[in-house]
Amino acid sequence: MSQKVLAFDKKTLTGNITVPGDKSISHRAVMFGSLAEGKTKITNFLAGEDCLSTIGAFQAMGVSIRREENTVFIDSDGINGLKEPVQPIDLGNSGTTARLLIGILAGLPYHFTLYGDDSLSKRPMDRIANPLREMGAKIDGRENGRLLPIAVRGGHLSPIDFKPPVKSAQVKSGVLLAGLLTEGVTTVEEVTKTRDHTENMLKAFGANISVEGTKVKITGNKNLSGCDIEVPGDISSAAFFLVAAAITEGSHITIENVGLNPTRTGIIDVLKMMGVSINVIEKRTIGGEPIGDITVKASQSKAAIIEGDIIPRIIDEIPIIALLATQAEGKTIIKDAEELRFKETDRIESVVTTLSKLGATITGTKDGMIIEGNTQLHGGVTESYGDHRIGMMIAIASLLTDDKIELHDDECIAISYPTFFEDLHSLISN
Ligand code: S3P
Repeated sequence: MSQKVLAFDKKTLTGNITVPGDKSISHRAVMFGSLAEGKTKITNFLAGEDCLSTIGAFQAMGVSIRREENTVFIDSDGINGLKEPVQPIDLGNSGTTARLLIGILAGLPYHFTLYGDDSLSKRPMDRIANPLREMGAKIDGRENGRLLPIAVRGGHLSPIDFKPPVKSAQVKSGVLLAGLLTEGVTTVEEVTKTRDHTENMLKAFGANISVEGTKVKITGNKNLSGCDIEVPGDISSAAFFLVAAAITEGSHITIENVGLNPTRTGIIDVLKMMGVSINVIEKRTIGGEPIGDITVKASQSKAAIIEGDIIPRIIDEIPIIALLATQAEGKTIIKDAEELRFKETDRIESVVTTLSKLGATITGTKDGMIIEGNTQLHGGVTESYGDHRIGMMIAIASLLTDDKIELHDDECIAISYPTFFEDLHSLISN
């Protein structure tokens, strides 16, 4: 396991950068391009480990996929051309690959076995397996089919009207993808709208899908056609630098070409609510997704109560928001975020343990955390616990102290942001 000593001489961030392509959109582009007949070209693809797991899964089913750095070329015979893989499919650390892929495999008349790394093997798969079983798929695995490794025997599904008990775009997407491969109309109705990249992109590939408020309807159709997808910059990656600039004196940065899908921009709303000086310029729409530039200046932030419907729109940004809260004036309370317990780590526990080690006053609750502001952080020995977003939160925390922070297991950052340290160095070297 590799480790890094974090000690930056200069702590002011200035200049402009772009961040790598969006993880959620990169996954979907590979999946839908593989299901579609003909050629699909994906530009600004995120070549992080999670999205490479998705490529590997479809190559194992016989799809021709070639990658040249951040461009991916897919040439597929469509759904009917997919083959039964000879070997078990390795999902690595990727929850998105797991949940969406299980939905697709449920609709294919083959047998599949899926496994992942230690973290993914602890994450619940019943949330997707249960509705698919209701549609007729045979899914089994450890702990009564709740955990990986999982075996799927798919095909011959019936449509369902599904109301997900958890607020999860992965679950919604997995059921919609099974619906795509099922004759008839499948509906998914959410309580709170989660990220809608599946809905947007399936339309671009020619699926018959309609959205009315929080209700999505898809009609089974095995004839998608390949198309070109340009992936916007990932706002969840940008979030680390948005907060870094907000909390370090004299900073002023712009992140260009960031995806601004409204189901993902909760971080902008939270930064505004906490008094951070932030400006967003929307520029254009690519493949149904708005993109633009975000400028942030160092600011004295103030505490906030963060709860309710905004939570799914910031679910991946809560670790870095917690770091911001240690610098804000007052006590920040985060509620309604029990889903954090089912991420790459239990992120309530890993954020609380890590920030406490660095001097923060932070308490975990059943569904969130309570964070005291105006805290001087200090150095210490930390670890990512194999969670990329915890690793990046620690790196940004090191801008707040002159002490050294040891970060153990830093390489997991490559799961979502392989060039994170290069981009951080480029912003502090201006
Ligand atoms: C994702 C959905 C979210 C998010 C994950 C990516 C997706 O997970 O945390 O990083 O691409 O659909 P849940 O759907 O489990 O909330």
